[in-house]
Amino acid sequence: MRTMDQQYWDDLYGSREQLFSGNPNGVLVTEVTDLAPGQALDVGCGEGADARWLAGKGWQVTAVDISQTAIDRAASGPSIGIAWTRADLAVAPPPANSFDLVSVQYFPLAKANPRQLHNILAAVAPAGTVLVVGHSPDELPEQFDRNDFYWPAEIAELLDDTWTVLVNETRPRTVPAPEGTGHVNDTVLRAVKRQDITDRPAGPDGRRADPAGTAGSSRR
Ligand SMILES: C[S@@+](CC[C@H](N)C(=O)[O-])C[C@H]1O[C@@H](n2cnc3c(N)ncnc32)[C@H](O)[C@@H]1O
Repeated sequence: MRTMDQQYWDDLYGSREQLFSGNPNGVLVTEVTDLAPGQALDVGCGEGADARWLAGKGWQVTAVDISQTAIDRAASGPSIGIAWTRADLAVAPPPANSFDLVSVQYFPLAKANPRQLHNILAAVAPAGTVLVVGHSPDELPEQFDRNDFYWPAEIAELLDDTWTVLVNETRPRTVPAPEGTGHVNDTVLRAVKRQDITDRPAGPDGRRADPAGTAGSSRR
């Protein structure tokens, strides 16, 4: 089975001039359009279309990706309100309780590293939203094992009573699938963290988040 490490992503981005459409993800637009803007974390921002859409809606965006190729490509476009950050979220946790929106779009959440999921959930501020969008598990390329990853519905089951789940469903994609992939459905989890959670919250593994921030970045 292939590992989705930095080399994998750099090779993938490097294999084409542009990997994704340049448009924001459909579920992001559907679920976030009516939210009041604040601080957003784009987890695995890729070439940056979601971050740019969020910034255009007034969000201050921290956009993180493991791939230097993706970050360089993203940062070469309009970047007002966006801090592009090259970081491996498997080892560099984002700051806890800090983001009104944490957007996780088609990001591989490996079960081998439950701490990563924990840290991403911990990054959501009190009363903030986490939006996790994946492909349907049965649409994963065959070189990967679906059991190796957390899927949105599984994450919903792991959330404790500090969360309110607003959306937990599979729905047809509203925008065409990336070229050559044939993806048909999206799996969607949208949940809100309780307002009175001011301490660092326990994650699905019951542990508390580290207060460390992601590596240096600057907002333009
Ligand atoms: C399927 S792509 C999705 C990109 C973007 N969210 C979108 O929907 O167009 C997954 C992204 O997550 C990034 N990624 C994977 N593992 C990562 C990690 N451990 N830390 C940060 N980014 C990571 C990859 O480089 C890639 O850009």
